[in-house]
Amino acid sequence: MKRLMYPGSFDPVTNGHLDVIARAARIADEVLVAVARNSEKSPLFTTEERIELIRTVTASIPNVRVVTFTGLLADAVNEFQVSAVIRGLRAVSDFEYEFQMALMNRELNAACETLFMMPSPEYSFVSSRLIREIASCGGSVSAFVPPEVVEAVRKKMESRS
Ligand code: PNS
Repeated sequence: MKRLMYPGSFDPVTNGHLDVIARAARIADEVLVAVARNSEKSPLFTTEERIELIRTVTASIPNVRVVTFTGLLADAVNEFQVSAVIRGLRAVSDFEYEFQMALMNRELNAACETLFMMPSPEYSFVSSRLIREIASCGGSVSAFVPPEVVEAVRKKMESRS
């Protein structure tokens, strides 16, 4: 059974993340979307909210499971018995950080292999950080995240104002 883990902050999940999840689900028996707890100091969404949103937007992909992990990704790989970690590479600018992280994770755990997937070019500029920034400035994020996330972001902004 080939189980892949797609770790991240997913604050919030974007169309780019979804593209990578769908691609990974086509080549793996099971994809674990792994939400890192405490990966951001002041997240927009709580871990539970992020998990719920990912569950909702991946509901149509049967071999996707949403999990969380605390601490090192290199340890989570053993805990969840995954064959490899998937990371998305949107642009060359992602490469340096991802390369460093992949090699460090393998140094920490020799079994921690990282596979890189390129999302569709239309998502190459989409990031959770920019989604949060656009939303906090009152802009529309509907072109970049699924409708359920648009609604969740709208409610979150309303509750903060
Ligand atoms: O979506 P992100 O923020 O790019 O995801 C980064 C994440 C959460 C995958 C990364 O920060 C991570 O693996 N954090 C867990 C702690 C850890 O293992 N750090 C050492 C990485 S070499």
